[in-house]
Amino acid sequence: MESKGKATLTYGDGKSIEFPVFGGSVGPDVIDIRTLYGKTGMFTYDPGFLSTASCQSKITYIDGDKGELLYRGYPIEQLAANCDFLETCHLLLYGELPNKAQNADFVDRVTHHTMVSEQMQFFLRGFRRDAHPMAVLTGLVGAMSAFYHDSLDINNPQDRDISALRLIAKMPTLVAMSYKYSLGQPYIYPRNDLSYTANFMRMMFATPCEEYKPNEVLVRALDRIFILHADHEQNASTSTVRLCGSSGTNPFAAIAAGVACLWGPAHGGANEACLNMLQDIQAQGGVAKLGEFVAKVKDPNSGVRLMGFGHRVYKNYDPRAKLMRETCYEVLNALGLENDPLFKLSMALEKVALEDDYFVKRKLYPNVDYYSGIVQKALGIPVSMFTGIFSLARTVGWIAQWQEMISDPEYKIGRPRQLFNGSTTRQVKPIDKR
Ligand code: SDX
Repeated sequence: MESKGKATLTYGDGKSIEFPVFGGSVGPDVIDIRTLYGKTGMFTYDPGFLSTASCQSKITYIDGDKGELLYRGYPIEQLAANCDFLETCHLLLYGELPNKAQNADFVDRVTHHTMVSEQMQFFLRGFRRDAHPMAVLTGLVGAMSAFYHDSLDINNPQDRDISALRLIAKMPTLVAMSYKYSLGQPYIYPRNDLSYTANFMRMMFATPCEEYKPNEVLVRALDRIFILHADHEQNASTSTVRLCGSSGTNPFAAIAAGVACLWGPAHGGANEACLNMLQDIQAQGGVAKLGEFVAKVKDPNSGVRLMGFGHRVYKNYDPRAKLMRETCYEVLNALGLENDPLFKLSMALEKVALEDDYFVKRKLYPNVDYYSGIVQKALGIPVSMFTGIFSLARTVGWIAQWQEMISDPEYKIGRPRQLFNGSTTRQVKPIDKR
């Protein structure tokens, strides 16, 4: 951190206190208030952490006003165009894009960790077949900590590295197993002769009855979707992983907490909610009904939101949404679905919203979830699996952020405080006196 002078707080009867101001390599400076409570007996108050930096990080930088997203300094547009998901995983985990030899070694290590214990299939049997895949995945990821007693010492860098590899390698297998279980179909084992994403598509869509040949255009599209979802600074699920991991628990339990948080419709569950929203509008009349729907969204009493729009940080176009729309177009064209009614409806709805003052005034633009549902549906992925796919891709971001925290000498268990406005001390009366 670079010292940027002081900030002075005046409070009470003319008291004042100074706090150091620090700057990073780019982005907003921070006021270091760690001594605030000790010196003033007061807390800061920031529900939702809109103005709070919870940590230092070198992994992902977002400029919400410019609509900019960098993974370790590389613009997301360049990574999506020039790299694949495992190269991006290497970058997020180790800080650099791999050269050819490093890439081959990383791909080999991930490839040889894609199988899960045969015991896992019995764990799934405890769920109903129609359980939401995210409920199943939360359980499966948490259960992984039951299989790796030999490498759970979070203070051992080798244990941290093998746990990261196992999570990245096994998430596709677990996500595909949760899907196959919901279908009542047999699980498909991973294959070492396929790329990471082709392997996942085969585990999702192949059956033992015939050979499955992944469509390279669709594989590339899904691999890019993984890149776009890989990390995103201190979002809700990443902050959950950091807070959970700060207790010293094992990485599988911390990532399971991230999966559970991502499931929410305000977060990673938005792509499922967005597609359901588009299908509802389509069922009620499609483009002709857009005006009515947007009017409902603008009515504060309706509780209706335009899912896939808005973002806590982006007050400009989410750069991932642009890339997702391009990918959507490519996939629909490759499949001869360029007239897909939902895609046309989503673009019409985007146009209406971006020209409406309600959205313009609130700087509400499409986010990563707005188009991802349409392209995943075109890839044959069912709506209920969208957030599982998001979890698969975000696992590398979660585990990279967890690693950064655990190896940060400054880290300590997270423990926020509160402004208490409940009952002050009162005496218990015997039940017959209450
Ligand atoms: C992800 O944090 C991350 O980085 C997350 C993520 C990642 O990669 O990890 O980017 C992934 O979670 C993307 C966001 C997916 N969620 C959705 O698409 C759900 C719909 N959007 C929202 O509910 C909302 O926009 C949030 C939750 C994303 C952001 O909410 P904020 O920043 O807390 O903003 P807010 O709820 O305070 O809204 C500000 C105003 C309000 O209106 P007023 O009270 O001022 O009149 O904008 C309105 C809101 O009602 N508003 C919306 C809206 N989003 C905000 N109105 C209609 N439709 C929306 N989608």
